[in-house]
Amino acid sequence: MFSIKSQVESGCLTSVPPRYVFDKSSSDCISSEAETIPTIDVSLLTFGTPDQRSKVIQDIGNACRDWGFFIIINHGVPETLRDEMLKGCQSFFNQTEEEKKEFSGKQLFDPISYGTSFNTNIDSSFFWRDYLKMWVRPNFRAPHKPAGFSETVREYCKRSQEVASELVRGISESLGLEERYIEKTYDLEVGSQLLVVNLYPPCPEPEVAIGLPPHTDHGILTLLMQNELPGLQVMHNGKWVPVNDSPPNSFLILTNGKYKSVVHRAVVNNKDARISLGTAYGPPLDTVVSPAPELVDCESHGSRYRGIKYRDYLVLQKANQLDRKSCLDRV
Ligand code: SIN
Ligand code: FE2
Repeated sequence: MFSIKSQVESGCLTSVPPRYVFDKSSSDCISSEAETIPTIDVSLLTFGTPDQRSKVIQDIGNACRDWGFFIIINHGVPETLRDEMLKGCQSFFNQTEEEKKEFSGKQLFDPISYGTSFNTNIDSSFFWRDYLKMWVRPNFRAPHKPAGFSETVREYCKRSQEVASELVRGISESLGLEERYIEKTYDLEVGSQLLVVNLYPPCPEPEVAIGLPPHTDHGILTLLMQNELPGLQVMHNGKWVPVNDSPPNSFLILTNGKYKSVVHRAVVNNKDARISLGTAYGPPLDTVVSPAPELVDCESHGSRYRGIKYRDYLVLQKANQLDRKSCLDRV
């Protein structure tokens, strides 16, 4: 199967081929209100006064509860690293199909897999997206070409992991738990980290195709970084809210677990290629994930979720059996 990038660049696509047409009608209610997406200054977690720190923890809690999504600024990952990372990803995709073939993994747990979005067994349409996935923890893997790419990915993962840990601690406290509670309970210090680079080439009819269909992410949280083109939409109060005005060098944070697991999708545009980079942080693959006992005890009707190995959860999610809900749901 040809990448969507190579099909677009062949110059013969003036409309969306039928198999890429995605029916959005059943779910396409775009919010008409000017919604303010929560923005969190994460530097206050480390450098703020005690008052600023508790206020920001409260804001994180509210954002997780109301949206399952927020934007962070002042996270400490240098803009130069972001730019280098985006450039490296673009150079990866700019290689010939022959060169990239070496990285075309087939299985969910292949350390590296390059491909284009389709799954003939379960998806009724193809998506306007090529991707490169890398498991960067517990064992770091990244393509050895283009030159220097792997080193950039390593540095980016290290720095963004520090931000994720900081946030997880803030989230833990916002739930009234000890700062390191989530990290310890889910073994995050030796956890898994999946980096997914998405390339959405320009599309001649953006309204009839989709980059990524509605879904929720796995893991504890996802840090999303993007080039200057918007495309992410998050579901809020039953309507899609386009995330159009995130500040440059900000991260978009999608949360999961105890808090709301935000449904989101990526739409495409007809101007230029959009790149986004999602880094999902989760427990080690063999950890059984279930709600923290401290939280279950607080709820009078007991656990709403069953325990499942994180590895099996990912397999279920890949098989698309979750359909906008978590496979931890009891019903
Ligand atoms: C994702 O959901 O993994 C990516 C979304 C995006 O490209 O904005
Ligand atoms: Fe996602």
